[in-house]
Amino acid sequence: MHELIDHPCVQHKLAIIRDEETGHKRFRELSKEITKFVCYEALKNIKVKKVTVKTPLADAICKKIDTDLVVVPILRAGVGMLEGILELVPTARVGFIGLYRDEDTKEPVTYYQRLPTQADGGTCIIIDPMLATGGSTVAAIDVLKAAGAGKIVVVCIVTCPEGLALVESEHPDVPVYAAAIDDRLDDRKYIVPGLGDAGDRLFGTSH
Ligand code: PRP
Ligand code: URA
Repeated sequence: MHELIDHPCVQHKLAIIRDEETGHKRFRELSKEITKFVCYEALKNIKVKKVTVKTPLADAICKKIDTDLVVVPILRAGVGMLEGILELVPTARVGFIGLYRDEDTKEPVTYYQRLPTQADGGTCIIIDPMLATGGSTVAAIDVLKAAGAGKIVVVCIVTCPEGLALVESEHPDVPVYAAAIDDRLDDRKYIVPGLGDAGDRLFGTSH
């Protein structure tokens, strides 16, 4: 299952973040802003519990989040999305998975893993701006499932049909939420039109 967040406020920001003239400061701000909107949708079905709150006038029956949330940014570029989701769910805990795509094979290489233990019934949210071939996302889901994760949700900024197809065939139980589903991958397995190398644009590095 995947869902495109086609809201005008998200699409407006996406137009700016894609622009090659957008520098790393603005790119970072936009990653955070877009993430907040996409995560808002991705978390719409998490478990809540009813609570009674005393207003100055009477009791009000309210709802509070009743799910142990663990956010997992994929290093490096996923770090640019962390602030955005934590503004939405500030009590979430955070785990990290270090992965990079081998430049030649395009296969994911795992180099770091530090995950909190999660309560039964919790939800893990993987954040990574680019879901290209889908190899990195599948590898991250594999790591989380091996660590005992239950429900997993993926939030990205830009993806494409090839990547979605891989994730959906390998992990049909994991929904993907994205701000854009682009046309295709190029010969270097970059998303086209995409936004380029997200890690480099976020952190001001180059290959
Ligand atoms: C990028 C991106 C994803 C991965 C997507 O990371 O942030 O993790 O590529 O590609 P895939 O879907 O084909 O696996 P990259 O390997 O460039 O590492 P970085 O974040 O450290 O720059
Ligand atoms: N990684 C990126 O940063 N961009 C792409 O288009 C594909 C992988």
